[in-house]
Amino acid sequence: MKSLLILGIESSCDETATALYDSETGLIGHQVFSQIDLHKKYGGVVPELASRDHIRKLLPMIDHLLKETEKSLEDIDAIAYTAGPGLSGALLVGSVMANGLAFSLGIPSVPIHHMEAHLLAPLLEQESAKMPFIALLVSGGHTLLVLVKSKGEYELVGQTLDDAAGEAFDKAAKLLGLNYPGGPEIAKLAVMGEPDIFDFPRPLSKDKGSLDFSFSGLKTSLMYRVKQLREDDALDDQCRADLSYAYQEAIVDSLVGKTELAVTKYEINSVVIAGGVGANKKLRTKMVDVFSKKGVEVIYPSLEFCTDNAAMIALTGLYRFQQGIVNKNYQITVNPRWSIDKIYEGKNAYG
Ligand code: KG4
Ligand code: ZN
Repeated sequence: MKSLLILGIESSCDETATALYDSETGLIGHQVFSQIDLHKKYGGVVPELASRDHIRKLLPMIDHLLKETEKSLEDIDAIAYTAGPGLSGALLVGSVMANGLAFSLGIPSVPIHHMEAHLLAPLLEQESAKMPFIALLVSGGHTLLVLVKSKGEYELVGQTLDDAAGEAFDKAAKLLGLNYPGGPEIAKLAVMGEPDIFDFPRPLSKDKGSLDFSFSGLKTSLMYRVKQLREDDALDDQCRADLSYAYQEAIVDSLVGKTELAVTKYEINSVVIAGGVGANKKLRTKMVDVFSKKGVEVIYPSLEFCTDNAAMIALTGLYRFQQGIVNKNYQITVNPRWSIDKIYEGKNAYG
């Protein structure tokens, strides 16, 4: 049987990404362009600027990818693109591009759920992420605990009730006068911070049964602390480091604690951690510490597949294409608030 070549396009937030995935040989090329520099001075992603930059970058990136992999448009069997969740304008750019190109080539387009792609990203590297597993998806826009029973069968078991973990890092950095994105900045400062100087609440930790997260109270309590310290003229560099330490501890404890709860509740032996916050060293160390004692494996996709990328979109696109789940009529509609529970309406699309 002829192998299938899938072009993947990702444009849901502030990364423009393209990838080519071959059903026989695997990933043959992928590129990511981050818009961080564009949004830095605003302290967060500006949706309109994001959309315009996706328009500028996407076609040249597809062109470049084809040249680099020595493929042509005619070699492509289907085009997979992120149809949600994400910023509506940014998603529309990818959708219009994917559907226009697919229509002109006479091949199917395949709309992909961005978070499903994150869940399947470990399969880009090791088939050994054994299902069922618990996935903790932690990015600037999402904090989800998902029970992945099998390919196509997902149960959302916990999520943030307000801010995402990455957002909590980003907002804290802003309060402390640090750069965007805030996670790496807070993590860097925290290394120089002293323990036991400050203490922040671990939200919802008393609610023993709940697998949900909440980070907005944490941010508010930092805000009051910073305000007081500024008034007392005490917010020096060491103080910022001590605050970063305590703030990071609170987020990490919350993420580790709820993941542990989910693993126990569903009697799971594998945990996958994905999304930008997964890069946090303290989170990695604590997860491994806690779970190695329990004989539970902790899997991190390598950083290039952990953060937003199109390789995971192309891979998920291949699975869906093989099941015949394609975009009939090249509809460009996107779904900015697509829930992960609603991908297959309870059915396992992969059989
Ligand atoms: O998955 P991602 O690259 O993109 C989207 O959210 O779309 O995640 C970005 C988020 C940002 O909020 C950033 O502050 C956070 O991940 N982040 C980190 C670290 N590196 C990135 N948070 C904590 N520690 C880090 N080392
Ligand atoms: Zn993402």
